Amino acid sequence: MSTDHPILTDRFGREHTYLRISLTELCNLRCTYCMPAEGIPLSPRDHIMNYDEIYTLAELFVKHGVTKIRLTGGEPLVRKDVGTLIRNLAKLPVELALTTNGVNVDRFVDLFQECQIKKLNVSLDTLRRDRFQEITRRDHFDKVLENIHLLVDRGFNVKVNTVLIKDFNEDEIIDFIELTRNLAVSVRFIEFMPFNGNQWDKSKMVGLEAIMKQVEHRFRKEDILRIPDAKNDTTKNYRIRDHLGSFGIISTVTNPFCDSCNRLRLTANGRLKNCLFSATENDLLTPLRHGEDIEPIIQKAVMAKHRMRGGLSDQESFTDPEIHGRNRSMISIGG
Ligand code: GTP
Ligand code: 5AD
Ligand code: SF4
Repeated sequence: MSTDHPILTDRFGREHTYLRISLTELCNLRCTYCMPAEGIPLSPRDHIMNYDEIYTLAELFVKHGVTKIRLTGGEPLVRKDVGTLIRNLAKLPVELALTTNGVNVDRFVDLFQECQIKKLNVSLDTLRRDRFQEITRRDHFDKVLENIHLLVDRGFNVKVNTVLIKDFNEDEIIDFIELTRNLAVSVRFIEFMPFNGNQWDKSKMVGLEAIMKQVEHRFRKEDILRIPDAKNDTTKNYRIRDHLGSFGIISTVTNPFCDSCNRLRLTANGRLKNCLFSATENDLLTPLRHGEDIEPIIQKAVMAKHRMRGGLSDQESFTDPEIHGRNRSMISIGG
């Protein structure tokens, strides 16, 4: 295997240094925007990557230039061997991060600390218990909020991911920003995105402009401070003067950030997705199990990456469910 050929650089010169690995298709919540009400057909257990396979693939990507790995799900912390995985992946020369729904965080907080995982993103779409139950179809609101506080108290860098949905939680934008007054978290408002079976429709989306309108109505212009973009950032970040935390907007639909994309995704069943929105995938697991060389497959997948949103390059694509609904459901991608 050679390292001098940049197999993770695409036709547009984008270097893919960030790998998101989904550890499981299972989740202990049932968020309506993330998975269809009837659930998803789960991959048979032996089609899911085992510990060795995940480690081997991670090592290979790191060898080819990946410097950041984020573990996702489903919910990564429901996987039985997640502790071992974290412990060993943390030994690779990468920044290891995790996105979780927060429910099981207290059981792993010591391990995160031991493994020097510093960045944790926790999904929370509402600050109201009744709404939490409505959207997640589970009653874990207090636990999640408690765990966010626990992470902040222990000094982790915490981002709260909030998917905004019209007529559901857009009236909590200011409440979430108020949360950042005394709590050092970064709240990120995410534009609702279309995936298979999530009943997406553009009219349910709350876009960047509408969010900023509310912010500008509530706070004085001179107190809304823009934080400069970090390289490859998905988020436009802001801080309200004197608040301990910050907030940001992930505007995939209205203002995509694909030009600086450095992300690849590995699904729990071992498929490489070159974009969050790519409807095509490349199976790495089967050839890996057959002992085949998978580097050419990875290279081909990277070269096939579209310039923007897996080919959904105009707003027209978002009006036709036949086009934007082709992708897997989010629970089986991992965000
Ligand atoms: P950081 O590493 O902290 O920047 O986190 P992240 O934004 O990479 O990861 P996270 O799992 O917290 O994702 C938050 C939201 O951003 C989710 O809704 C993801 O689907 C979305 N997101 C993450 N990566 C991408 C991406 O490459 N493209 C798009 N369009 N959205 C993304
Ligand atoms: N649109 C936008 N973000 C979504 N997420 C899940 N489904 C969607 C969707 N349809 C977010 C979750 C989690 C992250 C990994 O992806 O809230 O924070
Ligand atoms: Fe990258 Fe696709 Fe996300 Fe654009 S939509 S930033 S190309 S993963």
